[in-house]
Amino acid sequence: MSNLITRTIDGVTDWVNARAPGLAPAYRKHMSEYYAPKNFNIWYYFGSLALLVLVNQIVTGIWLTMNYKPSAAEAFASVEYIMRDVEWGWLIRYMHSTGASAFFIVVYLHMFRGLIYGSYQKPRELVWIIGMLIFLTLMAEAFMGYVLPWGQMSYWGAQVIINLFGAVPYIGDGLTEFIRGDYLVSDATLNRFFALHVIALPLVILLLVVLHLGALHEVGSNNPEGVDIKKKKDEKGVPLDGIPFHPYYTVKDLFGVGFFLTIMAFILFFAPTFGDLFLEYDNFIPADPLVTPEHIKPVWYFTPYYAMLRAVPDKLFGVIVMGGAVLILFLLPWLDKSPVRSIRYRGPITKTLLTIFVIAFVTLGWLGMQSGSATQTLMARLFTVYYFAFFIFMPFWTKLDSVKAVPERVPEHD
Ligand code: HEM
Repeated sequence: MSNLITRTIDGVTDWVNARAPGLAPAYRKHMSEYYAPKNFNIWYYFGSLALLVLVNQIVTGIWLTMNYKPSAAEAFASVEYIMRDVEWGWLIRYMHSTGASAFFIVVYLHMFRGLIYGSYQKPRELVWIIGMLIFLTLMAEAFMGYVLPWGQMSYWGAQVIINLFGAVPYIGDGLTEFIRGDYLVSDATLNRFFALHVIALPLVILLLVVLHLGALHEVGSNNPEGVDIKKKKDEKGVPLDGIPFHPYYTVKDLFGVGFFLTIMAFILFFAPTFGDLFLEYDNFIPADPLVTPEHIKPVWYFTPYYAMLRAVPDKLFGVIVMGGAVLILFLLPWLDKSPVRSIRYRGPITKTLLTIFVIAFVTLGWLGMQSGSATQTLMARLFTVYYFAFFIFMPFWTKLDSVKAVPERVPEHD
């Protein structure tokens, strides 16, 4: 029996190889014989986890679409219908809503890994830039998805964010009308956001992810030591500090997947709203254009930027600061002038400034959820200034900092 199965598999493989000779080499190049550094640590789980969450969002999204109604009159009720009457609908919806937050958690950690190990430095600038394009598209995707349940926060969140475009000189009013497709946030807005959320932006994200991995595999992965493993190869051209992706990292990544799914399951079954963070309480109230919620705030993953927007009194300048906070990350490969990649070989200046940066970013995230008292506004201003100063002065402090010599090979640690 097993002989028959092996022969059938071999037969099918030969048949495919004869017709598409490029497939097997591509599989070897990107999977089984992709030589990755042998010293990946916990920070290297988040790329494959981001892939997993992407698949989760697409699959659960398709099933939600089967019962969701993209109309202002029916959207809210159709989500309630999914939650109460559609078989397993509650699970699919919670997998999608929790998945959205999980996406940002893993992507933020994935980006932070890039920051601490200098993964954006030469020759991986393109990997980083494509990553940033994914991040921008992901933000648009999440924002539009949040509008779809047509709850109070969906409606008023859309109102606030779309109105920001009104700050653009001369064309502001026309632009907001163009985005809404109406004079106010309405059925037309919901319809176009639905189209963009379920098909246009997912296609863009998928394409960008393929390019992201393609660009990475051209130059090879960085690692926690920042050692260039391609410099030392054996006689067959295999990096001495490299191991084939399969089975070593497929197994390692599977362990990460198991751990991640366990945490996801706990959240899904015991705390799907995650205390107003993953699903906001105000969004369980149907959208009402005549009643403004007391505190309009975005979901947690946008709050650091929202805090920066609110910290600036002028609307246009606030929008520039908020947009600039994201766009400045594109420049990271050129702002960092350090001769070494990994934080392990950098000095106290980098370590101190990076720690304060993390504190600033997380505090801004917290501030963006608060009402915005005078003290909170002052704190938001200070941390916003720090956020920008961190990047603007990066060329100076990265040059100024002391560095340790990076070894030729990945060192053995006890
Ligand atoms: C849907 C979102 C994303 C997916 C599915 C994804 C996937 C991956 C995967 C599978 C890897 C290889 C494994 C690993 O190094 O963890 C990787 C590497 C990398 N990604 Fe992403 N990524 C995403 C978003 C981003 C973003 C937003 C950035 C930064 C702006 C980014 C920057 C990088 C960098 C610099 C590397 C190389 C890291 C190294 O070799 O040390 N990625 N990505």
